[in-house]
Amino acid sequence: MAKIKKAFFCQNCGAQSPKWEGKCSSCGEWNTYVEEIIEKSSDANVSSARSSKVRSKPKAINTIEQNAEIRYRTSDHELNRVLGGGIVPGSLLLFGGEPGIGKSTLLLQMALKWSGIKVLYISGEESEQQIKMRAERIGINNDQCFLLSETSLQHILQHLEEADADLIVVDSIQTLHSSLIESSAGSISQIRECSGELMRFAKETNTPVFLIGHINKEGNIAGPKVLEHMVDVVLQFEGDRNHMYRILRSSKNRFGPTNELGIYEMQGDGLREVPNPSEILLSNRDEQLSGSAIASSLEGLRPMLIEIQSLVSSAAYGTPQRSATGFDLRRLNMLLAVLEKRCGFRLATKDVFLNLAGGIRVEDPALDLAVVSSILSSSEDIPINPKICFAAEVGLSGEIRPVSKIDQRIQEAQKLGFEQIFLSKYNLKGIKQADFNIEIFPLGKIEEVFNQLFG
Ligand code: TYD
Ligand code: MG
Repeated sequence: MAKIKKAFFCQNCGAQSPKWEGKCSSCGEWNTYVEEIIEKSSDANVSSARSSKVRSKPKAINTIEQNAEIRYRTSDHELNRVLGGGIVPGSLLLFGGEPGIGKSTLLLQMALKWSGIKVLYISGEESEQQIKMRAERIGINNDQCFLLSETSLQHILQHLEEADADLIVVDSIQTLHSSLIESSAGSISQIRECSGELMRFAKETNTPVFLIGHINKEGNIAGPKVLEHMVDVVLQFEGDRNHMYRILRSSKNRFGPTNELGIYEMQGDGLREVPNPSEILLSNRDEQLSGSAIASSLEGLRPMLIEIQSLVSSAAYGTPQRSATGFDLRRLNMLLAVLEKRCGFRLATKDVFLNLAGGIRVEDPALDLAVVSSILSSSEDIPINPKICFAAEVGLSGEIRPVSKIDQRIQEAQKLGFEQIFLSKYNLKGIKQADFNIEIFPLGKIEEVFNQLFG
């Protein structure tokens, strides 16, 4: 067997050393060195580099013909949307999420629903029996879906050559183990080696490969950062485990947008796609309650109306509490400071709790105005008319700022039966009030909001 060259690398700073060290001499961290392969067989590489014929050659960009874009459209519309139309052949996709969120369920369900293509589902976490039980729960039969329970990378690669599958799912990359490396499965060097081999397989055979990845306690995908650089697509599956709703996002996509959302509902028989999120995100709204405001938000190309709930109450202890679920806490603090400075609300002695209904997390700046209004409503204990919704950003000096794609936001609000929408007066330029059946309230300053709502 050809010689394998190995070295030790610090997992913290990436420093290299020929021998293992307890403390990294470069960054001072303890116990961070792991063994990694740097060259599989140096002699073979050098000689083959010289002797073998190089088949690739540089081409002028305008001589390259573009084939019609090929994508495998999966049977899952939400997944297609997030991927930008479907799976690109030969791509390597990393799928991360917290334990128990439904990663295995989603990919197994995709494999089962997809007729006419051969899927090989490799699991290092569950036995074939256990996967079969899950498949029974999902309740779809498919004779082109193959299962393999295996953790050895070398065995898997052999199976892959023989299986001739159209799509591979690996659950999970942290359970694979290459015999070329001594460290245990899940270590940085194992993850790097295994995903490198699987990437080579994907590119050489033009077969898409899904890698399921665990995440660490900070919420990042466990393993080297290089893993995220290496793959073509990074998908994240998130949601509150106490809620049924799950959100699929992509944080990297070489072949499509990264701002699209996929929404699912976890049910007893697998994940159900949610094509119309607004209906579920607006909680039961029969009664008028203070502290609730609706924002017309947009994720990617998809408008959705989200209910924002606040509770403002006198602080029982010296330091008031601020808590936000699904919304950036720093942004909430900023909005509270703006309310205090521009509108004279004494919120410094109040506890403020903010919650986005449905357990979802949104980063749309157009939520600002609804957040401010819901805080005002709770603070005054006056409910906001349930037929009003909001779509505007709030600036530091209290100005109401315009947001993108306002016409789509207005249309969604109109579709769901809202009668008034509050937005920035600077958003009026591109739109004609006559085009809509909903009443549009343009605002310039945050003070006007209070007067309009409760004045
Ligand atoms: P799972 O896919 O095993 O999560 P992950 O692979 O991300 O760790 O999902 C497990 C959870 O989903 C578990 O709590 C049970 C629940 N579940 C359902 O509610 N309905 C179903 O049909 C299935 C298969 C799972
Ligand atoms: Mg799993």
